[in-house]
Amino acid sequence: MSEPWPPELPDALELLLRWRRDVRHFRDTPLPEPVVADLLRLAQLAPSVGNAQPWRYVRVRSAGVRAALAEHADEEVAKAGRRYGDPLLRARYAALKLHGLREAPEILAVFCDEEGERGRRLGAVTMPEALRYSVVLSIHTLWLAARARGIGLGWVSVLRPDHVATLLGVPTAWTLVGLLCLGHAEAADDRPELERRGWQDRAAWQENVHVV
Ligand SMILES: Cc1cc2nc3c(=O)[nH]c(=O)nc-3n(C[C@H](O)[C@H](O)[C@H](O)COP(=O)(O)O)c2cc1C
Repeated sequence: MSEPWPPELPDALELLLRWRRDVRHFRDTPLPEPVVADLLRLAQLAPSVGNAQPWRYVRVRSAGVRAALAEHADEEVAKAGRRYGDPLLRARYAALKLHGLREAPEILAVFCDEEGERGRRLGAVTMPEALRYSVVLSIHTLWLAARARGIGLGWVSVLRPDHVATLLGVPTAWTLVGLLCLGHAEAADDRPELERRGWQDRAAWQENVHVV
């Protein structure tokens, strides 16, 4: 049987990869329930060590929990900013928006179940961190699936993982991998926001490739 991929797939995929953005500026238009369900389904087509599928997605529906998460992120963003000694850099950092936790219509906390039965620890004995890498791949799969549907995703990591886990009341064996904001972006762009704002340019790809 021949492969079912259309010949335009490589170009379409490159377009998706180039226009995938981390989004912090969201419209508050709700995402239809079937769309969210579809994204959660597709995210779980990701590869995982031992086929352990250790990702655990928690949808934040409570307005109180959302507000607590946003407040916590604001505090940690401010705290992290105080580490910059250079006043100019500190001011540039302070001007950045680092999460859309108040506006995004959908908030997902993504955890790694460090003690799940699936996969029987295949590959995770020598590299237990491979379980978390698997969760990262699920998030990236979700990211691309969302962008392909015109939906933006923002990854929030300026947080205390334990505090987030406590706020959400998840099992102690679950480690936070990412807190995600999902929704329609205010504007699309093919350049990262941190590049556009002069924080960090993208390096030439060759700079990150080493030959031994
Ligand atoms: C693991 C991870 C954590 C991130 N955490 C944050 C964050 O806390 N706040 C934020 O604004 N962006 C965060 N980002 C987004 C990056 O800033 C963004 O990916 C990078 O600037 C490149 O931009 P692009 O994703 O639009 O290509 C995170 C991205 C990753 C992969």
